[in-house]
Amino acid sequence: MFSTKLTLKCCATFVLVIILTSCSDNTKDNTKTADSAKTQITQQQAIALAVYKSPTCGCCKKWISHIDDNGFQSKAHNVQDISFIKEKYSIAPRYRSCHTAISKEGYVFEGHVPAKFIQQFLKEQHGKDIIGLSVPAMPLGSPGMEVDDMFHPYKVLLLKSDGSYEVYANVQSYEEQF
Ligand code: CU
Ligand code: CU
Repeated sequence: MFSTKLTLKCCATFVLVIILTSCSDNTKDNTKTADSAKTQITQQQAIALAVYKSPTCGCCKKWISHIDDNGFQSKAHNVQDISFIKEKYSIAPRYRSCHTAISKEGYVFEGHVPAKFIQQFLKEQHGKDIIGLSVPAMPLGSPGMEVDDMFHPYKVLLLKSDGSYEVYANVQSYEEQF
């Protein structure tokens, strides 16, 4: 009886040690893989975006820093007449914001769209009737529009070439943007 108990106890300890060891090893390996994957993305696979903005726009610069920190490599184009590019890409006035970003495929990302939604959009397949994404106006607390801790919920819209839209994302909190 005594010896059975002892054996059980020993076994339990042994199993526990194995679990702990394998757990910590896995965690280490996963972290390493994730880190190097991230480095590869930022160094080799940054997604190019052309950003059209007015020369004096401060929140545009802050938004550009946000996307460049999150897997993009943007090229800013300062233009005096910002509505020209919006007309060219058929962004109706009600969907417009301060700046317009264009991907190499010709998709439009209008205003303070969080980088993660652009990443998501570009991984998906879209029909020819889709123009891109927009965050109309300039919601407080969106990337590049930080003012203290203020945050106004907003929607990311999927713009269609016929002038209509679908809600692509409903952003209810600051944290959901990252
Ligand atoms: Cu802005
Ligand atoms: Cu802007």
